[in-house]
Amino acid sequence: RLPIMIDTDPGIDDAMMLTLAFAHDDALDVRLVTTCSGNISQDKTNYNARTFLSYIGADVEVARGLEQPMFRELEMAEEIHGESGFGNIEFPSPTLPVSERPAIAAMRETLLSSEEKMTLVATGPLTNVAALLLAHPEVKPKIERISWMGGAAVGGNMSPSAEFNAYVDPHAVEIVFRSGVPIVMSGLDVTHKAFVTLDEAKDMLAIGTEFAEKAYGLVTHYLDVIKRTPFHEENYDQVLHFHDVCAVMYILKPELFEGQDCFVEASLEGITAGATVVDFTNRTGEKPNVHVLHSVNREAFVEEFVKAVKVISDR
Ligand code: BDR
Ligand code: CA
Repeated sequence: RLPIMIDTDPGIDDAMMLTLAFAHDDALDVRLVTTCSGNISQDKTNYNARTFLSYIGADVEVARGLEQPMFRELEMAEEIHGESGFGNIEFPSPTLPVSERPAIAAMRETLLSSEEKMTLVATGPLTNVAALLLAHPEVKPKIERISWMGGAAVGGNMSPSAEFNAYVDPHAVEIVFRSGVPIVMSGLDVTHKAFVTLDEAKDMLAIGTEFAEKAYGLVTHYLDVIKRTPFHEENYDQVLHFHDVCAVMYILKPELFEGQDCFVEASLEGITAGATVVDFTNRTGEKPNVHVLHSVNREAFVEEFVKAVKVISDR
C-alpha cells in the first residue's frame, strides 16, 4: 500500500476526494489527515474533516493546521461551499478527536518515522505544506511527491488568472514549487475536464444508500452558484466540478491523465496574484519543477468515482 498524508479544507469536493482515498484502503495507507484554512475557517475545515471521516468509518489522526495564509488575509469560499462548508448536508457529530499534535509537527513526525517515502496529497491552499518545508527541510527526502489540486495554466476561477487555492496563498505556492520536491499539479486545466454530469450524479444517487444521498446532496449544492464565463463550454454551469478528486485519482490511476513537465512560477501581487504561470514551451530555459496535468479520461474517472461511493456505501 502506498503511504500517504492528506492536507485538505473540506469543502464539498474535498469530501469527495476523501471518499475516493478511503474507499481505496487496499491501495492507499492514509497515515495522517491535516486541515488547512481555505474554503472556510480552520475551525470548520477541521470539524468537517472529522465529521466526514467519522461518518465514513475512517480511523485516522486529524490534525489542526494554520489559521491564516503566509502574508495575505484569508479569503474563503463560503458562497460556493455554504457557511458550514458542506452546503445544507448534515452529518452526525464527529467521533474522531482533534489530534494533540499540531499539523506541522504531526506531518514532520509522520514523515521522519516512515521507512518508505510518502506521497503528500494537498487539496487546499498550500500554507501548511509550505510551513512544513520551510521549518523542517529535513523531511524533503521522505516525500515521494506532492499531488496538489490547485493553480491553472489558463484562466482562474477566483480572479481572471488565479485558481482559488493558489489565490488564497500564492507565497505558499512559491515556497512549495521552489522546494525541489517533485510536484504534480491538477489545476483547472485538467479539473474542468474531470466533471460529472447531472445524469451521472443521478446514477450515483441510484446506489440508494444514505451515504449516496448525502454525496449527491453535496455535489449538487453548488450547481446554482457556478457562473459561466464567456470562455467556458456551453453547459459549463450544468456539470459538477470534482476538482480535488483529481489529486487522489492521479496517484491511484495515473494512466487516466496526461501532463507535461514545466517550469511554473506563482505571481505574488497585483491583479495576477495567485496566477500560476506555466512555461509550457520552456521560453525561460528554467528546469521544470512541476508535472502539469492537462487531460483526463473523463468516463473512466467518473466510473472510478461512482465505484468508490459504492464501496463506502457497502461498509
Ligand atoms: C479548489 O477551490 C476549492 O473551493 C475547492 O475545494 C478546490 O480545492 C478549486 O479551485
Ligand atoms: Ca479544496
